[in-house]
Amino acid sequence: MRRIVLNDGTEIPVIGQGTWRMGERGGERATEVKALQAGVDLGLTLIDTAEMYGSGGAEEVVGEALKGRRDRVYLVSKVLPSNASRAGTVKACEQSLKRLGTDHMDLYLLHWRGSYPLADTLQALLDLKAQGKIRAFGVSNLDVNDMREWMALPGAEATVANQILYNVGVRGPELDLAPAMARAKVALMAYCPLAQGDLTGFKKLEPIARRHNATVAQIMLAWSTRNPLSFAVPKSSNITRLKENAAAGDIALTPADLSEIDAAFPVPGRPVPLEMI
Ligand SMILES: NC(=O)c1ccc[n+]([C@@H]2O[C@H](COP(=O)([O-])OP(=O)(O)OC[C@H]3O[C@@H](n4cnc5c(N)ncnc54)[C@H](OP(=O)(O)O)[C@@H]3O)[C@@H](O)[C@H]2O)c1
Repeated sequence: MRRIVLNDGTEIPVIGQGTWRMGERGGERATEVKALQAGVDLGLTLIDTAEMYGSGGAEEVVGEALKGRRDRVYLVSKVLPSNASRAGTVKACEQSLKRLGTDHMDLYLLHWRGSYPLADTLQALLDLKAQGKIRAFGVSNLDVNDMREWMALPGAEATVANQILYNVGVRGPELDLAPAMARAKVALMAYCPLAQGDLTGFKKLEPIARRHNATVAQIMLAWSTRNPLSFAVPKSSNITRLKENAAAGDIALTPADLSEIDAAFPVPGRPVPLEMI
């Protein structure tokens, strides 16, 4: 599994595990816990969750999966915009930590921009970091203008990542947002790197997949993590697919592969607003 070093010096694997839709159905809890644990054993040692997922249920599933494994995992969660006031962010983080059964998160993100001033959320994140409740902070779904505003705030230079929708079929960020993030050394954390599992529109990747003795999903993951300071969090509750996703972290696409992908899935001709799911 390839690894990258974030701007605070922390090393992480390029592929982790998403948890959206986990913790929603009690009957699937054991399967979800087992899948996350198997993923960690396979090297997918970064877990992305949020207080929003399953209204706290996903964090509880992650908490269960982390028992005896906490120190092996880079743990990411997110505060809802509706909680992202200065006091609300601190309270939300403390409640997430309780559900996660840990005393700290490795990375805590503002899930998307809401109505609270960005400066208030940032101040709360700085306070949480000073208290050791989070090791680092970042944002999610911030487009280029919001990102510029965020990065201009005092203390924002410590921002580690912006988690955004990014996959072979969604390349708008390459025009403006991704280069701006790269200049600021803010990592691109790709969500929905597998287009939420609907791979029907990606048949043009099949020849590349055959050349690498890989699946289309693996090519999508190798592609979304091809640049320095980029990593992805595909979600799977299926052990076979988790194995596939982990192995994708070792695939290096060639310049010929990348040109073929550029031709089949071009970058838009002009800047487009950041898409969000
Ligand atoms: N910040 C945000 O606003 C935001 C928004 C959306 C998502 N996220 C985060 O990003 C994570 C990933 O996004 P996502 O879960 O929406 O979509 P995704 O990871 O692109 O796709 C997940 C779907 O793909 C399937 N899948 C997984 N591995 C596969 C493989 N190797 N081959 C074929 N299918 C595969 C999964 O099914 P099985 O489980 O059956 O394998 C699942 O249905 C989320 O879980 C969440 O943590 C963040």
